[in-house]
Amino acid sequence: MAELIDGKRISKEIKDELKEKVAAYKAQGIEIALAVIQVGQDPASTVYVGNKKKACEYIGIKSVAYELPEETTEEELLEIIDQLNKDDSIYGILVQLPVPKHINEDHIIQAIDPKKDVDGFHPQSVGALSIGQPGFVSCTPAGIIQLLKRSGISIEGKECVVIGRSNIVGKPMSLLLLRENGTVTICHSRTKNLKEVTKRADILVAAVGKPKMIDASYVKEGAVVIDVGIHRNAENKLCGDVDFDSVEKIASAITPVPGGVGPMTIAMLMNNCVEAVEIRNA
Ligand code: GUN
Repeated sequence: MAELIDGKRISKEIKDELKEKVAAYKAQGIEIALAVIQVGQDPASTVYVGNKKKACEYIGIKSVAYELPEETTEEELLEIIDQLNKDDSIYGILVQLPVPKHINEDHIIQAIDPKKDVDGFHPQSVGALSIGQPGFVSCTPAGIIQLLKRSGISIEGKECVVIGRSNIVGKPMSLLLLRENGTVTICHSRTKNLKEVTKRADILVAAVGKPKMIDASYVKEGAVVIDVGIHRNAENKLCGDVDFDSVEKIASAITPVPGGVGPMTIAMLMNNCVEAVEIRNA
C-alpha cells in the first residue's frame, strides 16, 4: 500500500512558517497586501477566492477584494490593474481565472506588473523560470515540489513524467522538475503509447483533466504518483485524474483528492505574497 502524501498537513506547515515571516515583516513596518479580483460570479471561482482570502487572514496578509460585475469591460479591468500596479501598499495582484469571454485573458495577465505577479502567469515570470532566473513560480507546480521535498522524496536523477502541457501546471511543472535535476518527459493528448511512457516514471504527475483516467495500468510498481485533477463524480464526491483505489496498491506514495495538491496551491500563493517583499526590494 502506498504512503499517503498529506497535502493538508504540509500546507499547514508552510502556512505556519509564513505566518512567522509575515509577523517579522510587520514588526519592521511592512504590511503585505494582496489584491484579489474576481469578475463575474462563477461559483467555483467564488469558492477559490474565498479560500484565498481565508488563507490571507490566517497568515496575517491583508486581502483587498474586488468583486466586479460580469459586464466589466477589458478597459475597466486594465485600469484597475494599472492603479494597483502603481499602489505601493499592494504587493500582489491576482485576477481569478477564467475571466468572462469578452475579456482577453492574455491582455490581463500581461498587464500585471511582474513584481506583483504572485500567480506566476506573466510571460516574464515564465521566461525567468525557463532560464533559471529568480521570479514568481506558478503555485500548483511549486506546491508539488514542496510536497515531494517535504515527504523526503528526491527528484535528482529520477524519471519524471508529466501528463498535461498547460501553461499553469504541465509546462512549469516540467521546468521545476528539470531544475531539481529530474529527467523529464511531457505527455499530452497526442502522445503515442501513453502507457509505455508513463510506466517509465519514478515520479508521475497527472494533470490530464479526466476523472480517474490514470489507473494502475499506467503506473510502474513503486512509483510516486501526484494527482493534480479535481472533479466531482455522479455521486457528488470529489475525485482526481488518478484512480486512487487501483493505483494506491502499486505506488510507493500517492496524493489523495481532496487533501493532496489542492491545499498546496493556496499555501504557495501565500508564499509568493511573502516573496513579493523580497522581489520588490531586489
Ligand atoms: N483559476 C484556477 N486556478 C487559478 C489560479 O491558480 N490562479 C488564478 N488567478 N486563477 C485560477
